[in-house]
Amino acid sequence: MAVGILLVGGFGTRLKPLTDESPKPMLPVAGLPVTEHQILAAKKAGVHTLVLATSYLAEIFTPYFGDGAKWGIKILYAVEKEPLGTGGAIRNAAELLGRDEPVVVFNGDVLSRHSIADQIKFHTDNKADVTLHLIDVEDARAFGCVPTDADGRVTAFLEKMDNPVTNSINAGCYVFSPDVIDKIPLGTVVSVERETFPALVASGRSVFGYKEQSYWLDVGTPAALFKGSRDLVEGDFQAMAGTTIAPDAVITGGTSIGARCTIGAGVHIDDCIIGDDVMIGDGARLSHSFIAHGTAVAAGVQKSAHYLSQKLDLPIIV
Ligand code: GTP
Repeated sequence: MAVGILLVGGFGTRLKPLTDESPKPMLPVAGLPVTEHQILAAKKAGVHTLVLATSYLAEIFTPYFGDGAKWGIKILYAVEKEPLGTGGAIRNAAELLGRDEPVVVFNGDVLSRHSIADQIKFHTDNKADVTLHLIDVEDARAFGCVPTDADGRVTAFLEKMDNPVTNSINAGCYVFSPDVIDKIPLGTVVSVERETFPALVASGRSVFGYKEQSYWLDVGTPAALFKGSRDLVEGDFQAMAGTTIAPDAVITGGTSIGARCTIGAGVHIDDCIIGDDVMIGDGARLSHSFIAHGTAVAAGVQKSAHYLSQKLDLPIIV
């Protein structure tokens, strides 16, 4: 068994304007917030208590997830007045957790099908201080890379470079031994990637890389968010409970439609993410667009690559 921390307090600037009204982890992919996909995966791996480390638009999380009973997991909230960075957020959230179980930390913008349970076992078997999930990418130049030795020990955290020494990158899911978290200063802005991890390696602590090559996507940009949603949708489209769709509507491209929506007659929708409680008027045509929860789209509207909400109608690059 383990406890967990979900890092969901960032500003999500690369996803603007989608993150003007919603924190990045609460954006829906395939009908559910990114965070909910992660909570389901954590629960499956035996995580029984999870702290949501929130800051930007913190108030959006609590009404949705409550105490976690609906998911069979205990959910707690640690709110940072000003974002403390990933390391500061982990330390702050850990104040709500005990010190006798490993702590699994999740970046809140990652969809991953790796086995969290196997990662925890790998961590425990190696008596590691920290175990990072590492994933191999084809082109590591856009990321910092993480070389390991033959035993799987991390030897360095290297910044982005033109000739990366390995294709293994930090996949954003860490298992910490609790005493290591207590070394991070409380109430201070700290980056776990840029400060804590390199310092641990430099001081000879046992930082391991757990390599598992499975579905993995960082949904930090609009294009990646749309890909993540499409990847989870089987067939042309998916719609959640309570949604009604006119028989002559044409919906394609791995579109996801949230709960309780109404899709009017003659509507064409291609490669869109549509939130809950959305109404789309007759004859509207939407492609590569993100429609926020509760939006009414007037009949006949034509939009491509737009973010539509009650307040905003802005182009997005997808
Ligand atoms: P960009 O502004 O687009 O870079 O996104 P971000 O800062 O929201 O996310 P980034 O990919 O840099 O961070 C990875 C994860 O950590 C995301 O899920 C963020 O929500 C979260 N995160 C980043 N900074 C903080 C912070 O200061 N506090 C908390 N609680 N979470 C954070």
